Amino acid sequence: MASASQVHAAAQTREKRRVTFGTIQIPETAKRLINQALDTTRISSGRLVRQFEDRFAELVDAPAAVAVSSGTDADILALALLRDYGAKTGDEVITPALSFVATGNAVIHAGFTPVFVDVDRSTLNIDPAQIEAAITPRTRAILAVHLMGKPAEMDAIQAIADRHGLAVVEDAAEAHGATYKGRKVGSLADLGAFSLYVAHIVTTGEGGVITCRTSEQAEILRSLRSHGRACKCKVCTLNTASGYCPKRFDPQSGEDIRFVFERLGYSCKMNELEAAIGLGNLENYQTILDKRRANLRHVLRRFERFAPYLFTIREEPHEQIGPHAIPIVLGERASFSRAELTNYLESNGVETRTLFASMPTQCPGFAHLGYRLGQFPAAEYLGRRGIHIGVHQDLELRDMDYVLEILDEFLETHQD
Ligand SMILES: Cc1ncc(COP(=O)(O)O)c(C=O)c1O
Repeated sequence: MASASQVHAAAQTREKRRVTFGTIQIPETAKRLINQALDTTRISSGRLVRQFEDRFAELVDAPAAVAVSSGTDADILALALLRDYGAKTGDEVITPALSFVATGNAVIHAGFTPVFVDVDRSTLNIDPAQIEAAITPRTRAILAVHLMGKPAEMDAIQAIADRHGLAVVEDAAEAHGATYKGRKVGSLADLGAFSLYVAHIVTTGEGGVITCRTSEQAEILRSLRSHGRACKCKVCTLNTASGYCPKRFDPQSGEDIRFVFERLGYSCKMNELEAAIGLGNLENYQTILDKRRANLRHVLRRFERFAPYLFTIREEPHEQIGPHAIPIVLGERASFSRAELTNYLESNGVETRTLFASMPTQCPGFAHLGYRLGQFPAAEYLGRRGIHIGVHQDLELRDMDYVLEILDEFLETHQD
């Protein structure tokens, strides 16, 4: 760590920078596609959405993808699909106590009961060693989260799921570009759910996408996103020039299958304008990913110097972290508060977000489930003492150095 006088001298001379959390570019391709869609007046889900789905599936090595209106909807539909395979309202889904609140909300909105398991403080992810104790006869699935883009321990999770006949869903909202043992996140489990919100590496502005393994799953997901309709073809001829669908009227009953609702559904389609932004964005995917990865690694490799007052995650040899953000957690020895740290960062131009919260015990929306504060020590610790900051593609390595300098300075002035 630098000496107090060095830090003071640096603080006097350095220019103040803005290190924002997220960014978005709308490339020319996106603008062209948006204008095309506007000119055809066909802006609800159609050709561009299908193209986006195909490209996204290819990107993560998944057999199929279905686009929806948010990452939360992606989580909800990935779980709601389990009803077609026998899951019933009130069945249980195991999920980590620490995540963005959407993960827990999604379990409830899909009609299931979340059963929370504590996380490992060093990985931020569900602790596989605690999963089996949470399994009951009503458990149907494990919804693992790759928090801050760090892959959850999928081998251990899958082995538990196999032993107990459970489905596994990846909440990969924050994990675009992550790999685990050479495989891409989103292709590791039965289903993967991504957010395409503006802060993420692939974005449609608002949006989400589910990756899945079979065309049957994709059909069910298409039905679920559109009210549970029986009309669920991958290519819909109704929004082509002919506008005629030979399959639409059931040959026996004469019923219009667009108005046959074969399961309980939701309304969360992606529209063409969002897909256009996504397609434009995918053209620059590799550049965006590389830039963010370089930013993240620059900080992670230099973070040890803040121990034991601050810690972050590590990238292990078997994985590549999806470069979503940099988590920063106050160590036990820190004599300052999270508020002091965030205030210092923010007043020096570094935008911060909290590291979420223990959903069952720090988010009132889950109070009815009856968990008590203290049941999830690691999640609660991170929920009280964690933050995260940006690594997006419009930030440079000198912005990352700036963050490191500000942290040096903060510790110099706030740690006894
Ligand atoms: C882990 C996690 N799950 C789900 C979501 C929900 O995504 P969205 O905001 O697109 O609904 C988010 C948000 O980014 C998230 O971080």
